This record gives sequence, C-alpha cells and structure tokens, in this order.
Amino acid sequence: MRTRRQLVVAALATSAVATPVVESRQAGGSIDCAPIPSPFPSWSQYPVQSSLPDPFLPLKYTTTDNAAGSSTFAKDIMTGKGQGRVKTPEEWYKCRQPEILQLLQEYQYGYYPDHSQEKVEATRSGSTVNIAVTAGGKTGKFRATLSLPSGASASKPAPVVINIGGMQNAPYLNAGIAVVGFDYTSVAADSNSKTGAFWDLYKGRDIGVLTAWAWGFHRTLDALNMTVREIDPDRVGVTGCSRLGKGALAAGLFDKRITLTMPMSSGVQGMGPYRYHGLSGQDETLENSKQGAGWWSNSKLGTFVNHHENLPFDAHTIAAAIAPRALVIDQGTGDQFTDSKGTAIVAYPAAKVVYDWLGVGDKIGMSVRGGGHCDMSGFSSILPFVQKVFFGTATTKNYNDLGTYKSPMTTAFPWATAVPKL
Ligand SMILES: *[C@@H]1O[C@H](CO)[C@@H](O)[C@H](O)[C@H]1NC(C)=O
Repeated sequence: MRTRRQLVVAALATSAVATPVVESRQAGGSIDCAPIPSPFPSWSQYPVQSSLPDPFLPLKYTTTDNAAGSSTFAKDIMTGKGQGRVKTPEEWYKCRQPEILQLLQEYQYGYYPDHSQEKVEATRSGSTVNIAVTAGGKTGKFRATLSLPSGASASKPAPVVINIGGMQNAPYLNAGIAVVGFDYTSVAADSNSKTGAFWDLYKGRDIGVLTAWAWGFHRTLDALNMTVREIDPDRVGVTGCSRLGKGALAAGLFDKRITLTMPMSSGVQGMGPYRYHGLSGQDETLENSKQGAGWWSNSKLGTFVNHHENLPFDAHTIAAAIAPRALVIDQGTGDQFTDSKGTAIVAYPAAKVVYDWLGVGDKIGMSVRGGGHCDMSGFSSILPFVQKVFFGTATTKNYNDLGTYKSPMTTAFPWATAVPKL
C-alpha cells in the first residue's frame, strides 16, 4: 500500500508535464545543442541590451560576432528575432537550461563544488542536527535546528522549509510544515573574511557567498534525509530575506531536490532585475551591490560593473532555469531597499512567459503585499501557494495579481510576443 506521502510525491511528479525530461537528459537525444562558447565571452563581446535578454536565445547567438555588420542586431535579439533560438521544451531542458546554469556560475555565482567528492556525516541530538562535510581531506562543520509540527512522524513525515535568518514559524508549523534553520554565518560569513564551514573546504576558490549559503541549504537537506525521519526530503522549500533571499534563490537554482524556492525581498542577484533597477526603492544596482558586498558573487561579475546592460542574462533568466520546479516570489510595496516594482512587473512576468511556454505556469507565483523590507507578513502571504505545492491544497488567492503595481511592463521583455511556436 502506498503511503499518503508517496501519493503526494507521485501527484507532484506527474502534474509537471515536463518533469520527466528534466529527470532524464537522455530524452530528446536527437537534438543538437548550440555549443556553449569556450572560453566564455567577456562583457565587451555582448551587445548592449536595454531590455531583458531573450531567454530562448543561446549564448552562441547572443555575441556581437553574429551581427555581421547589422546595426539592428541588439534590437533584433531583444525582440526575439535572433537566429538559433530554442524551439521546444525538450530543447530547453536538454540544452538551454544546462547552459543557463553554466553561464550563471561563470558570470555571477562562481562554480558550485562537486558534491560527488564530498562526504556528509550527520548526527541528531534533540532538535539539533550536527553536520560535518569532508572533501579533499578537510572538514567543515555547522548545525541546523529543527521545529517539527505536531503529528509529524516517520510514517507521516512533514514537508519542510529550510530557512536562513529566521522566518514566521507559527503559521507554517500550524499548517503541518516543519521549519529548519541554520546559522548562515557558520557556513560562510557575510563578508570577505572567507570563514565558515564552506570556506574550511573551499578557501581560495572564486565563489560568491550566495553560492556558499546555497551549499549550506543542500548539505542541511542531506543531513535531514539521514537523521530526521519525521521530515519528508522530497517536499522541501528554501527561503531567506534580502541578501539571504538571494541565497535562497541560488539554493533553488543549484539543486533539483528543492521543490519550492521562496526568495523574500531579494533584490539584485535575487529576483530584482539588473536592468529596470530603479522602479522603486533606493535603487540597488549591480554597481552598488558589487561595491558594497562584492563577496556575494564571484569576481567575474565585477567585470560587468558599468556594463550591466551587456549581461546576457537577468533575474528572469535565473527564475526560468528553476522551471519546472515551483517558485514563489515575495515583495512588499513599502520596501525601501529593493526594487519591488521591478521584480513584480519586469522579472516575474518575464520568467512566467517561460514557465507558461513549458506548460508549468501554475508553478510560479508573485506575492505583492503591503509592508516593508523583510516584513514577516510576507511568509503568511505566500503560505497558500506553499500549501498548494506541498499538499495540493486549493487556494483562491491569485498569485498572478500584481496588486497596486497592476500590470506587467511588457516593453521590458519584447521577445515575449514572439515565443517559439509549439
Ligand atoms: C535520501 O537518501 C537516500 C539514501 O541515500 C537517497 O537515495 C535519496 O535520494 C535521498 N533523498 C534526498 C532528497 O536527498
């Protein structure tokens, strides 16, 4: 007899039309991928794109050497008239999604460490899980703290939200969702100091701290799977707010085990676009984030300072690469720090075009709420979406409603009127 947990997991798996393709890269074997340029082009080899880059256009066809003297090349590729665009969801999952993962590591995150070379050990003591990761003869240690909902057991395990920096626990626990936190500073300090468990293993690598935090989420999940049978490791959300929301987005991006990514008030290098950066808030940009906290990303991103319109990606590209897995984005209209409006009317709807095209439009949601930066009410605001993903609970709340921001800024992603025909 199948347990309820297995049924829920089976239901989640089959509701995403494209999931089997992602799970097996062998599918679509007759498709030839555009080769990823090697070495990766530098900023000056990309055209200036004042609107969001076309997510369907491979890097190979994005560089200016494709222009062949045309003065309209940048405009053409921005409007979806580029050559060699991805044509089918199969090609997206086989070619473009892996390319996006590569280019984001190259240009922003730094290269995620090879997990197959790591050994994870975990022990549980009450509500504490001690985690030790060994690689290359070195060991890094940190711990996670558990809060389990009443009734969770090995035979009735609860889904979990792993968070850094704290969250609104009560409504999640009341909804039957476990909450697990870890001290992100013990994984990687939010500074240039390169201290913490991640750097104990990987000091010297050109990797951003957002990636180190993402790694902390993933090793926490490994440890939960080994030691906490009351938690279902196949229904997992990741969250954090502001810089920690940028980290949560990276956590969702780099590990297919993450069922639901929940970036809160995340801003640039999160769900805030580099382009259209000043639509609301104090205008967080590539330039000032790189200057203020350069350690969040790798050094390559620094070469795009004052050239952010040459970036061949933007926040919508990161979100699109998470499909077909679920993503719900929080922003507050009173947020003085991040560009809530740019996230809501530019990055989110552009990513949704890709989710829709892949047949999984219901897996991405935008939650525009009142309140400021990291207001805890954001967690209640996204909870119905979380319950839909974890339990299949119906909700009448519309996560395509942009609230007071009203409608998408379609001029920011003109390629959307020319999505590849299926
Ligand atoms: C949990 O551990 C088992 C046994 O090692 C493994 O097969 C499974 O993929 C793991 N699940 C997750 C979500 O990591």
